[in-house]
Amino acid sequence: MQEVRSKPEGCGTAAAGYGDRVAILRPVVPDDSREIASLLRENRDFMAPFEPLRDERFFTSEGQRERIEESSSASFAIIFDSAIVGGVTISDLLYGPFRSAKLGYWVAKRLSGRGLATGAVSEAVEIAFGELDLHRLEAGTLVDNVASQRVLEKNRFERIGLARRYLQIAGEWQDHFLYQRTAD
Ligand SMILES: CC(C)(COP(=O)(O)OP(=O)(O)OC[C@H]1O[C@@H](n2cnc3c(N)ncnc32)[C@H](O)[C@@H]1OP(=O)(O)O)[C@@H](O)C(=O)NCCC(=O)NCCS
Repeated sequence: MQEVRSKPEGCGTAAAGYGDRVAILRPVVPDDSREIASLLRENRDFMAPFEPLRDERFFTSEGQRERIEESSSASFAIIFDSAIVGGVTISDLLYGPFRSAKLGYWVAKRLSGRGLATGAVSEAVEIAFGELDLHRLEAGTLVDNVASQRVLEKNRFERIGLARRYLQIAGEWQDHFLYQRTAD
């Protein structure tokens, strides 16, 4: 996925408008690490119920730089008003007869409810089924994460089931609704 991250032009830079709101995705680069770490610190309490347990290094520029440099995922920053306000990750890419990957996303609390996640996921779907040549995207939400479920449903993901004790979130093995979207 290095190729995707290092090639901003033509890679998710088109605006996806929802009403008068606009979100733009661009590949994350190591020099974003300070801005991302700062945003993560600002949203630490907000994100904690939806995230694996994080160590202190995760919230530092150095920790984020390591993650960006070592990531095998396609990682994108969500840009709004020229600032990074969240992120989208397409991870666990499998090709062969599967051509499937997992989708994750988040938006800073202070900008929630503006359609930014919905627009960002829309762009990510285009990238996944376009230049990444995938056939399927999968996403999972906590069963009570209705906002995230709305984001997926508005992007024509279908709920495919309940996975019990699917993922360790906030230190507990938690049930998730699984969703998928296949290429049209
Ligand atoms: C979930 C999250 C991505 C939503 O981001 P966002 O930019 O606010 O999402 P959008 O504005 O595009 O859409 C949110 C939708 O959820 C709805 N919503 C928000 N809170 C809701 C609630 N408590 N109950 C029902 N619907 C809710 C909004 O009304 C909107 O739907 P609508 O357009 O039909 O009205 C963001 O809150 C977040 O990052 N949360 C923490 C991390 C997380 O949950 N990530 C996803 C992991 S699966």
